[in-house]
Amino acid sequence: MAVTGIVLFGYVLGHMVGNLQIFAPDRDQINHYAAFLHSPANVAPLWLIRAILLAAVVLHISAALQLTKLKSDARPLGYIKKKNVPSSYAARTMIWSGPIIAAFVIFHVLHLTVGAVMPLREVGANQPDVRYNVVSAFQNPAVSLFYILAVTLLCVHLYHGLWSMLQSLGWISPRHSQAIRKGAAAFAILVCLGFVSVPIAVMAGLVTY
Ligand code: HEM
Repeated sequence: MAVTGIVLFGYVLGHMVGNLQIFAPDRDQINHYAAFLHSPANVAPLWLIRAILLAAVVLHISAALQLTKLKSDARPLGYIKKKNVPSSYAARTMIWSGPIIAAFVIFHVLHLTVGAVMPLREVGANQPDVRYNVVSAFQNPAVSLFYILAVTLLCVHLYHGLWSMLQSLGWISPRHSQAIRKGAAAFAILVCLGFVSVPIAVMAGLVTY
């Protein structure tokens, strides 16, 4: 889970930074970036990254299912009274935040990559008009709200995921445990703000076509 988590986290971070280009002074910056990613020279690396991501998602989910099974096999009988004192809210919600995030990603790819939810515009062949597509999507408050909720859930998942990952890899000493927990929270909040700033800015009229 930790290794596939690193791959997925790396993608999420890179994608968030890429999206922030919508705020660049050059209004076409984000479209230039998309054109670069989709350029003929980058077809092979793009599909390689997509394949690695898909493999990481499949392995991450199957590891989560194995972990859940191990837990239920270890204690087949439920607790009569369950106190969640040592675990955080984020830790207890991992098992359902994961499937909701997976459903969001499927919707999101159909929405802004495939164009199955709304027609997508292109500036030229293989050059998505990301600025237009993102702005027209987020001008609908229901779509924006849905993205904001999904990204917030992703960041709660990320917070606990980051923390567990560092523990699984043995990179946390008990002495630094509290500081690392705070660092993981701060990182997750920054990632969340980076993503939600886009729908919020569109709804506030700060980012336009
Ligand atoms: C407000 C938040 C987000 C915005 C504005 C956004 C924007 C976009 C856009 C415009 C594309 C299409 C890019 C292209 O065609 O070149 C895209 C693709 C994608 N996004 Fe997002 N995204 C957001 C959040 C997320 C999150 C939270 C995740 C993951 C958990 C994610 C995962 C993906 C994936 C997997 C693709 C498909 C990439 C590909 O294979 O071409 N996105 N996103």
